[in-house]
Amino acid sequence: MTDRIEMPSFDEFDEINYPRPDESDFDHVVESAISRRGFLNVLAIGTASFVTGVVGLPGLARAKDRFGFEQVAANSLDTVTVPKGFSWAPVVNWGDPLWSKSPKFDWSVRGTAAQQEMAFGDNNDGMTIFNFDGRTVLVINQEYTNRDIANAHRESKLAETDDDVLKGMLAHGVTVVELAQTDGKWGVVKDSPVNRRITPKTAMVLEGPGAGHDLLKTTADPTGTKCFGTWNNCANGSTPWGTYLACEENFNGYYRSSNPDIEITPGQKRYSIGVKDWGYSWAQIDDRFDIAKEPNESNRNGYVVEIDPTDPTSIPRKHTALGRFKHESAELVINRDGRVVVYMGDDERGEFLYRYVSNDIFSVGGSTSELLNDGTLYVAKFSDDGRGQWAELSPEATGMSAEEICIHTRIAGSAVGATTMDRPEWVAAHPTKAEVYVALTNNKNRGIKPNKGGDETPVGGPNPREGNKYGQIVRWMPDGGDHAASGFDWNIFVLAGNPTVHQDDRAGSPNVNAGNMFNSPDGISFDDNGILWIQTDGDYKNKKDSAGQGNNQMLAADTETGEIRRFLVGPPACEVSGLSCSGDRSRMFVGLQQPGAKGFKSHGPGGGDSVPRSGVVAITRDDGGTIG
Ligand code: FEO
Ligand code: CA
Ligand code: CA
Repeated sequence: MTDRIEMPSFDEFDEINYPRPDESDFDHVVESAISRRGFLNVLAIGTASFVTGVVGLPGLARAKDRFGFEQVAANSLDTVTVPKGFSWAPVVNWGDPLWSKSPKFDWSVRGTAAQQEMAFGDNNDGMTIFNFDGRTVLVINQEYTNRDIANAHRESKLAETDDDVLKGMLAHGVTVVELAQTDGKWGVVKDSPVNRRITPKTAMVLEGPGAGHDLLKTTADPTGTKCFGTWNNCANGSTPWGTYLACEENFNGYYRSSNPDIEITPGQKRYSIGVKDWGYSWAQIDDRFDIAKEPNESNRNGYVVEIDPTDPTSIPRKHTALGRFKHESAELVINRDGRVVVYMGDDERGEFLYRYVSNDIFSVGGSTSELLNDGTLYVAKFSDDGRGQWAELSPEATGMSAEEICIHTRIAGSAVGATTMDRPEWVAAHPTKAEVYVALTNNKNRGIKPNKGGDETPVGGPNPREGNKYGQIVRWMPDGGDHAASGFDWNIFVLAGNPTVHQDDRAGSPNVNAGNMFNSPDGISFDDNGILWIQTDGDYKNKKDSAGQGNNQMLAADTETGEIRRFLVGPPACEVSGLSCSGDRSRMFVGLQQPGAKGFKSHGPGGGDSVPRSGVVAITRDDGGTIG
């Protein structure tokens, strides 16, 4: 481990780019940090069902076991660990060719641009399996690249030549690839007519209220409606009309300025667009990424992108109506009145949780083209008493035009006093009842620093711990079971923690114990059986605060009883990122991102070569039964 390279996370980089004062008017909040007793009171006030469902844990032993597997132990092994009676196998990994004519990846240089353009991208994250025309089609985000891994052949460990830069760029985006089983093993169907790489160079359109606004116009596109590409696609969503939703998260880290003295606008600052990029150097080959030359290009990222996986010539659509922020996922539900509701988190310290409600309704066979263009955006305001409200982001409420609300959405959220959250990651809606969950991964600034808009981050409500290291999952129940209602009840489903190290609120909630403990919940998703799957992206050092928690992992949760059980442990340094269960629950695809990053030795799930490779594994039960 001596060659470990410590690179900052995106959030940490943003703070380097825009350091916030160590002290602020808000510092008094630190002094009022809650005690363990106070913490429990918070749970009791805001979490009636939490108290009955989780504090009453002794009853769990008598509850029916809905999981169907024995918990695996935490570990730091360089492999994938699944429960007894289950097996895993790699399906597809970074660099795998998608076509017969794809040039073979040269791992000695971590590939070239020409090789990468025709191969599975890097750092896969959110995914959806689509079934059409008798095909099993994986659509998956390729979130970003680890520069030190992608450029390991360079002494600087950074992209140096234009081809290095382009190779990295083309490792981003989305992959559409047909999968099939051969001799019981899942793999890529080369040359499938649906196979497609969508990259930062793919032609796209901007739609919705923001489209055509001056803030979206560039030299190449004076209409403000035509853009190229998507990148840093983190989690995802899908629609009942068969399309995929790729969410643009840390899009800011790709922009820099050739003029170091350029004045950064408030709008750029709020999204951490600054003079330095995050080491990708895309401005070296494309002026779009130089804010001194194209100040509006960055306004054309940070959206939800809709992709039709059935047509490889279709043009992806960026939906400005769903707002512009560091989109984590887009959890779409059809409300009981037929309207489309999309829940979305903005993953940055102290940013917000959003909801979109369409004006029109979804009907099978009806037109769906405007359902994500014509609607209303809301932001969540949580009260400490277990109630919450969705605040409409209207011109009247924000003092901004409808177009500006779509483009500077964070500023609109601040204008209505949205609740600053502990980094909202994925949102998951229960499959059979109106109950929605959000993973709040961690937030070292909680109670310590405001967000980038200057909004305070008080300890309390759904964010009950100062300097939150472990994260929590919060759930809400819309009033009357109506996802379009203005109010909701909320409570905390789990506070992650480490009860073997801490005795205070960092021990976690009562449904966390020495056997199932974890930190930093990120990907969450329900299967059809109502089991909530939790994937982590956190501290895997297995020391101090994370001692005994091992590598990142995936757990299953029974949201009725509160019980949580570990199902899978990934290889060192990986994030467990993205999953898809088959309809009959006989097979699960799980994403493993960035194994072997930061100098942690791992070959990743692909194995067989010396390069750590992100990828997807298939998990099956040895007896052919269902999972979960
Ligand atoms: Fe890409 Fe918020 O995780
Ligand atoms: Ca994530
Ligand atoms: Ca994360």
